Amino acid sequence: MLNRMLTIEIVRVTEAAAIAAARLRGRGDEKQADQVAVDAMRTALNALDMDGKIVIGEGERDEAPMLYIGEKVGTGKGQRIDIALDPLEGTTLTAKAMPDALAVIAMAEGGSLLHSPDCYMEKIAIGGGYPKGIVDLDASPQENVTKLAEAKGVPVSEITACVLDRPRHAEIIASLREAGAAVRLITDGDVAGVIHTANPADTGIDIYIGTGGAPEGVLAAAALRCIGGQMQGRLVLRKPQERERAMKMGIEDPDKKFDLAEMASGDVIFAATGVTDGSMLDGVRFEGDTVTTDTVVMRSATGTVRWIKNRGRINKR
Ligand code: FBP
Repeated sequence: MLNRMLTIEIVRVTEAAAIAAARLRGRGDEKQADQVAVDAMRTALNALDMDGKIVIGEGERDEAPMLYIGEKVGTGKGQRIDIALDPLEGTTLTAKAMPDALAVIAMAEGGSLLHSPDCYMEKIAIGGGYPKGIVDLDASPQENVTKLAEAKGVPVSEITACVLDRPRHAEIIASLREAGAAVRLITDGDVAGVIHTANPADTGIDIYIGTGGAPEGVLAAAALRCIGGQMQGRLVLRKPQERERAMKMGIEDPDKKFDLAEMASGDVIFAATGVTDGSMLDGVRFEGDTVTTDTVVMRSATGTVRWIKNRGRINKR
């Protein structure tokens, strides 16, 4: 089991990244917004007493000087922890001051998170309370929403699917619309897209379908493990070198359909702080010398979901 103090400590980490990135909202500079979030998250992580290792991070060591896959973080004292992170999920959303940019992190006992390479992943996710296996990556989007509607006891026209607005999703979108479902298109940010399925009454989203980043897939799986739901992910590995890389990282079958527990097992803690205002969290507010952040932190072992509004003095940060 993870040390429960981590559920509080982890909040400081996403808060720090979100505050740093929020200063660059709407400045049109994705790279700089990401960089300041990375710096702030790394500094906050290194202050924690743990023997942390990044398993999902900013990329491979040769392309990411900080928070790269395999980097050790924390003071080295304490529990061995696997960490998946995205200091700024939604770099473009931040640069354009659009909704739903987040600073996100997941922590789990060593060996519990899928060591995925930085590639794409096909994803499908629904919230909790449905019979196991009613949606499947290998079924057509039409079949999936039809089965989901049956299980929910509503006509398909009352089902909304969240999909990243990309040309590669044209067929998925057409199939969903043909089935009669509504499609909520998002420009970025599929970690939030997946999480939204856990609470359709508030978000209006019943199912997430489509291909996005694999690191974001593992992060979303960690969140869904805590709040309940079903998810499958399959890596998109087009070149032989990509397949080799995945196998080197310990993935025996690169074509496997991973379910939730195969992407995030054991005791998992997930935290997200809003950078820009969104449907799940408010963005960072700067007022005079105070800064206010909005964070959600969840833990799989207890199923606890805490919402933390933090108001602090800017010069104490
Ligand atoms: P960044 O924050 O790295 O820009 O990622 C945003 C995002 O929208 C993710 O949420 C999603 O998984 C991925 O990009 C989709 O990738 P692409 O933009 O290449 O379709």
